[in-house]
Amino acid sequence: MSKVLISDSMSKVVQKIFEKNKISIDVKIGLPEEEIIKIISEYDGMVVRSATKVTKNIILAAKKLKVIGRAGAGIDNIDVATAKENNMIVMNTPGGNSNATAEHAFALIMSLLRRIPFANETTHKGQWEKKNIKGTELSKKTLGIVGFGNVGVRLSNLVKGFDMNILVNSKSLESRKKYYPHVKNVSFDELISNSDIISFHCKAAKDGKPLITKEHYKKMKPTAYIINAARGNIVDEKDLNDALNENLIAGAAIDVYSKEPAKENILFNNPKVILTPHIAASTTEASIVVAEMIANQICKFLLKGVKINTV
Ligand code: MLT
Repeated sequence: MSKVLISDSMSKVVQKIFEKNKISIDVKIGLPEEEIIKIISEYDGMVVRSATKVTKNIILAAKKLKVIGRAGAGIDNIDVATAKENNMIVMNTPGGNSNATAEHAFALIMSLLRRIPFANETTHKGQWEKKNIKGTELSKKTLGIVGFGNVGVRLSNLVKGFDMNILVNSKSLESRKKYYPHVKNVSFDELISNSDIISFHCKAAKDGKPLITKEHYKKMKPTAYIINAARGNIVDEKDLNDALNENLIAGAAIDVYSKEPAKENILFNNPKVILTPHIAASTTEASIVVAEMIANQICKFLLKGVKINTV
């Protein structure tokens, strides 16, 4: 009987699916790397979210491991190259949490434009800041979406009713643009110079370098906002903080960080920034969908050799 290690907390649906398929599981959450190394040789499969770092040392200690499943989209916590060199396959669940992430990006946009966190905090304190809070409307503004995969596409569809212009920067859009007549594909420079809101929904660069640098902020509208609910290293936090302090842009909303969990960060306490703790994909619905997807994919692979959503 195959055996699978579940090392991050996730919907119980995962356990039910493995049990139904007669695959034995151990749920051991929050183990440090050295503990995983001690036990990993027992397992044929492993399921993680983003907390477990599946390192080279874990992979080399995994004598039977055939598959590593990521309940989510990003695979930056898995050493995919070493896994492949050792004949393991890595799977993720693309699309499973795209709507959740796009809706969170939209919530961040609205929170920034209507100053909801500040309004909430001050009203709770009995400070009536009505005169000091003036929002900005979405209508007639330009939304720039960097990256046009599942999340970027979903965000572009969500804002359809808001009467916005939508610019996209995506290499892969050219071949499929007939499906998305509501967006215009432009260069990165054109997007940042013309957008009122810029939302990142792309992968981080392979070399880890930020996509947006000091020079870019100088080309942006001083009233522009930046949203990052993709990966922390896409936006350099120091450069962003400087750009905000120098009034090169108006504000930012950030869900992902260069170092997570973010216990210290240069953006902390900057009043122009709204911060959330990497929760864009954290909805009841999405956590069930990604759990179902990854458990079914791993069962199909371990029982029938069928490979779905391999990376
Ligand atoms: C993902 O990669 O799917 C998201 O960042 C969600 C997460 O891992 O928490």
